[in-house]
Amino acid sequence: MLIFEKVSLLKNHISYSKKQGKSIGFVATMGALHSGHVSLVRQAKQRDSIVVVSIFVNPTQFNKQDDLVKYPRNNERDKRLLDEVDCDIVFIPSVEEMYPNKVESEDINLEGLDKNMEGTYRTNHFDGVATVVKRLFEIISPDRAYFGLKDFQQYLIVKHISNVLKLGPEVIGLEIERNEKGLALSSRNERLSESEKEEALIIYQSINWAKKNYQNLSPQNLINKLKLDFEKSNLDLEYIEICDPLSLNPIKHWSEYKEARIFIAANLGKVRLIDNDSLF
Ligand code: PAJ
Repeated sequence: MLIFEKVSLLKNHISYSKKQGKSIGFVATMGALHSGHVSLVRQAKQRDSIVVVSIFVNPTQFNKQDDLVKYPRNNERDKRLLDEVDCDIVFIPSVEEMYPNKVESEDINLEGLDKNMEGTYRTNHFDGVATVVKRLFEIISPDRAYFGLKDFQQYLIVKHISNVLKLGPEVIGLEIERNEKGLALSSRNERLSESEKEEALIIYQSINWAKKNYQNLSPQNLINKLKLDFEKSNLDLEYIEICDPLSLNPIKHWSEYKEARIFIAANLGKVRLIDNDSLF
């Protein structure tokens, strides 16, 4: 496994590999890797001849300084984990490498995909994500880029900018990895105690309840019912939304859409948790 810290050296290596006819798969991460990240790498390995994983805690996508400072970092463990799954290249740039001028987001038109859900609660978050992903795509020029559906809105935005800005890669969305009880894996789970992990299961249970019962209720009544359950829990709910997975428009009547997806975000203490799944 090769490790690069410098943009120029990585670019040279990739252009050499491409000349040899190798296809490049890319998985972008902020490190503190878990089985969710590893499953992306495994699936990338099945399709592409060279898999590049980036580890970069991107400052421009954090709207709370505290969250950026407390974000778990463990590069040595991450490198061992990636080596075990036969990752070919790890890219660990410094902030200066990724932001040689000012540490700020570029102005990229996200066509309103950033306006609800995560966009409402994390101001300018997606400008930061779009900026860093665009730069990573330009450096790595992957044939395919693999993103988790855990961050569904991020996946949609990345797919959008990749198409509109003609960045090159096909953007592939992969299923959410969960622990044995159903909690969606997240680097932030490291900050939850065992009993908090149990309490957090209300998110997964709500999604499952919605999948079984949505046909008997209107979207708004379904949301209201689930909100009542959260009021009885220790989680501080940010939103429950039911949206069209293509436009992210909120769904008022089931019959108006061919597909529907439920999205939940809640805080448990200082840890922010998100999850989502398809209803139909
Ligand atoms: P990070 O949170 O490290 O996630 C990296 C990738 O792993 C994302 O595509 C995310 O959706 C995926 N992922 C996280 N948890 C997952 C799970 N339980 N199952 C499946 N996939 C999962 O998302 C980011 O980093 C950043 O915003 C980034 C795209 C790297 C830009 O900075």
